[in-house]
Amino acid sequence: MNNNLVLRAEQLTKELRAGEIVVQALRGVSLDVERGELLGIIGPSGSGKSTLLGLIGGLDSPTSGRIEIDGVDITNLNERALTRVRNEKIGFVFQFFNLIPTLSALENVALPIQFANKRRFNPNQRAKELLTTLGLSDRLHNRPTQLSGGQQQRVAIARALANSPALLLCDEPTGSLDSESSAVVMQALKDVQRQMGTTVIVVTHNMEIAAQMDRLVTLVDGHITSDVEGDESVEMAALKLFKQKRLTGEMSAVKA
Ligand SMILES: Nc1ncnc2c1ncn2[C@@H]1O[C@H](COP(=O)(O)OP(=O)(O)OP(=O)(O)O)[C@@H](O)[C@H]1O
Ligand SMILES: [Mg+2]
Repeated sequence: MNNNLVLRAEQLTKELRAGEIVVQALRGVSLDVERGELLGIIGPSGSGKSTLLGLIGGLDSPTSGRIEIDGVDITNLNERALTRVRNEKIGFVFQFFNLIPTLSALENVALPIQFANKRRFNPNQRAKELLTTLGLSDRLHNRPTQLSGGQQQRVAIARALANSPALLLCDEPTGSLDSESSAVVMQALKDVQRQMGTTVIVVTHNMEIAAQMDRLVTLVDGHITSDVEGDESVEMAALKLFKQKRLTGEMSAVKA
C-alpha cells in the first residue's frame, strides 16, 4: 500500500439513466493521485468529468470499480458513513459559489467547523486564518452580495478547506468568472496546494487554467485518453484539446 496516495480509483464505471436511455458516463477510469498534487481534468462536454468528481467525492456511487480516499475504501459505504468521510476528507468548490447570503464571509467559513463531528479548530479563528491566507483579511465581515465574484469564490474555497480536507475537488471553479478573477482564483488554488499541501483536483474548460496544472488528465467519452505531467506536456495536452474543441465548434463554454 502506498500511504502517499490520497486517491486510488480502479476501473470505475458509471451508468446513468434518463428514462429509457442508459448513458455510460464512465467506462473504466483508473486514477491514482498522490498527496499534494495539483491535478487538472479536461475533456469535451459530456465526457464524464463531473460524474468522476462526484464519485471521487462520495456524492454518488460507481456502478462498478473501487475508490479509496486517504486510505479508506468508500466503494461500499452506506450513506451515513459516506457522509462522514465526505465531511472529514473532502472539500467541494463549484462553479456557483453557493454561499449563504445572510452570513458574512467569516460566518460562511466558520459554519462547517461548527458542524463538524470532531471539532478540530476554533471556528472563528480558523475562518479568519483561512480568509487571510486567501487574501480576504479586509473582507471578513462582508456578506456575499458585497463581494466580487472572484472574492466570493475565494470565500467558497476557504469554506471548503475549513475542516482541513485531504482532497479539494473543484468543478469549473472559474466557470462564471471573468479572466481577471479567474487568474486570482487559480492563484488562490495554487497557494492552497503549495502552502497547505492540500491535494487539489480541478475540472476546467479554461485553457489557461488547465495549462497551469502540474498534471493534466484528459477524459473523452468516459475514458482517460491522456495523463501527463510537467509544464510542457501539460501545455501541449491543454492546447490539443482546445484546438479540437474549436474544430468541433464546442467553444461556447471556453473563455479566451
Ligand atoms: N443525472 C444524470 N442522468 C442521466 N445522465 C446524466 C446525468 N448526469 C450526467 N449525465 C450524462 O452523463 C454523461 C457525462 O456527464 P458529465 O456531467 O459527467 O459530463 P461533463 O464532462 O462534466 O460535461 P460538462 O463539461 O458539460 O460539464 C453525459 O452524457 C450526461 O448527459
Ligand atoms: Mg461538468
